[in-house]
Amino acid sequence: MRFDPSTFDLHSPEAYANHGFPWDAWDWLRREAPMFWYERDDIEPFWVVTRHADVKEISGRPDLFINGGPRLRVTRRGEPELLRGGLDSFGQARGWDPLEAPDMTFMDDPRHRQVRRASSWAFTQGCMRGMAAHFETLAQTFAEEFVAAAEARGTVDFVAECACKLPLAATGQLIGLAPDDWRQILTWSHAILGEVEPEHMHPGETVAEAAERNMNDFRAYLEDLIHVHRQPGGGPSPFINRLVNAKVDGEPMNDQQLNGYLFLLIGAGNDTTRNAVAGGVEALLSHPEELEKLVDDPSLLESAADEILRWTSPVISFLRTATDDYTMHGTTIRKGETVGVFYPAANRDETVFEAPYRFDITRRPNDYLSFGFGAHFCLGTNLARAELRASLKSLVPILPRMELMPGATRIAHAHVSGYATLPVRLRG
Ligand code: HEM
Repeated sequence: MRFDPSTFDLHSPEAYANHGFPWDAWDWLRREAPMFWYERDDIEPFWVVTRHADVKEISGRPDLFINGGPRLRVTRRGEPELLRGGLDSFGQARGWDPLEAPDMTFMDDPRHRQVRRASSWAFTQGCMRGMAAHFETLAQTFAEEFVAAAEARGTVDFVAECACKLPLAATGQLIGLAPDDWRQILTWSHAILGEVEPEHMHPGETVAEAAERNMNDFRAYLEDLIHVHRQPGGGPSPFINRLVNAKVDGEPMNDQQLNGYLFLLIGAGNDTTRNAVAGGVEALLSHPEELEKLVDDPSLLESAADEILRWTSPVISFLRTATDDYTMHGTTIRKGETVGVFYPAANRDETVFEAPYRFDITRRPNDYLSFGFGAHFCLGTNLARAELRASLKSLVPILPRMELMPGATRIAHAHVSGYATLPVRLRG
């Protein structure tokens, strides 16, 4: 195929909403231009990295390719990185430090390692094994609620009726939030993406104003939680008690740092895992032979969850900043330039995955990079995998009578991708 490298679009939210992942562009880039300088009128330029080995090489050198530079995500020209645009009105009102990194994703070692360690103990495989039964109970409840909604109403949106529920509940369970708070957090979490449903807007408010109000409410909720757990004797959540007492550079974290920390933990695993669950259901329903294998053999749950993570790749890319000149494939990345690693592209690398465009729930090995690689490797990997397994377990008995209906829509976002809505119905 003739491909025009000057026009393909890796950055506009609308392109992801209207066309999904740009597989043709990524295939061409992996084959013909493993280091590609992506320059478009409206965005800050960066090097695009699409090969599996190269994504690992860049991510595996956090000394040379740092997170603490000007950009972590693709940004419009002249605009600051999403969360680096200064303080929101909540932070301004409290006199927070505008130069403080919002959370660990913006940090580099040695500080990054210390901050990450303050919670990494809670995300180990052992901790997840201990929580698996809780997740399965929650997933079962949500699956039953979904069946009741579909039986009562016919076609329903799988994202709203099912996929969005477990990620918040599971994170809430792990952090120790009251179950009543989960639904409220769901509304706030939409606001993080700049979306507010009409029923959550006040009269006369614009969407941006409503999003800001919701964000401030979420920040205030976190502030209260931190305050309660700072009291002598602590609060009800063992996790937050430990977090407020954790030391970074010998000091406990301040309000701003703790607020950013909890904000990240609650936000990072929310839409990502929801997209994997919804995308996984779509993939299984579109590949009935794979679904049949899973129904016949529940021991495939684990490899199916992993293949769904490879297939859906909910995070599109992260950017790094070069601290020195570095040459790859004969091309030199100059000190100060931005480099973007594209996880879905790496997950279709034919030198690593046999028949990468085949959805194969028995795929082993499956060295997918959906959770990134290296120092910033997703902290919630074990949690997300446990949630996905629990969701699949609860849905497998239902999936054979579920069918996809027309009208699915995708999220308009250039950093996290997946279904915004997935209409389905149950037969018979
Ligand atoms: C399917 C679900 C998920 C996907 C695809 C995903 C993907 C990612 C990716 C690609 C990164 C950056 C990795 C890198 O820079 O090398 C990341 C970082 C992170 N993720 Fe996830 N994630 C998911 C679920 C979760 C969950 C459930 C949590 C729960 C708390 C979470 C918390 C985090 C945190 C805290 C970081 C920052 C780690 C650091 O900077 O050291 N993620 N995730």
